[in-house]
Amino acid sequence: MMRILGAGTVITLAMTVVPQLSQTETLSAAERSHTTLLPRPTRPIVGPHAQDTTVSFARDIAPILERSCYQCHGGEDEDGLQTVELELNMTTYEGLMAGSVDGTVVEPGKPDESYIIDMVVNGDMPEEGEPLTPEEIDIIRRWIAAGALNN
Ligand code: HEC
Repeated sequence: MMRILGAGTVITLAMTVVPQLSQTETLSAAERSHTTLLPRPTRPIVGPHAQDTTVSFARDIAPILERSCYQCHGGEDEDGLQTVELELNMTTYEGLMAGSVDGTVVEPGKPDESYIIDMVVNGDMPEEGEPLTPEEIDIIRRWIAAGALNN
């Protein structure tokens, strides 16, 4: 009885170990060293060398505009009427990029030349409500610097 159990254990072990060994064999030397030497990053790398392509319009920018700007720029006021000050409608990417009656307010790649940055930094906008935080202004700057993509 013991001998049969023992043999069964060996067979089970062999069946679990062998596929793992053959998987390892299919990795190239480069893949193995990559796997062992480079830990997988758990969060985006930030700092002067960071790639700002990680800023997303849908995820990062639209919620800021929705909270602070929609009410006068494309959204509805408390009476349910749509308000689009100077025809600047920020409720869609296309509307934001189309700009206002005066022209574009976002210049892709050039945050310092983008009117929208000027307005929120100088405190002119939002005309009512809490000003944007430095973090919110920074993320809009980074999104514009990275090309103001519809991402
Ligand atoms: C309470 C209403 C209100 C809110 C909220 C508001 N705006 Fe405005 N916005 C205005 C009005 C009114 C004007 C036009 C008069 C002016 O320039 O002061 C304007 C003009 C602008 C202009 C200039 C357009 C042009 O052609 O001169 C920009 C850019 C702008 N807003 C951006 C924003 C941004 C960004 C936000 C959110 C952070 C925002 N606004 C929130 C009312 C608002």
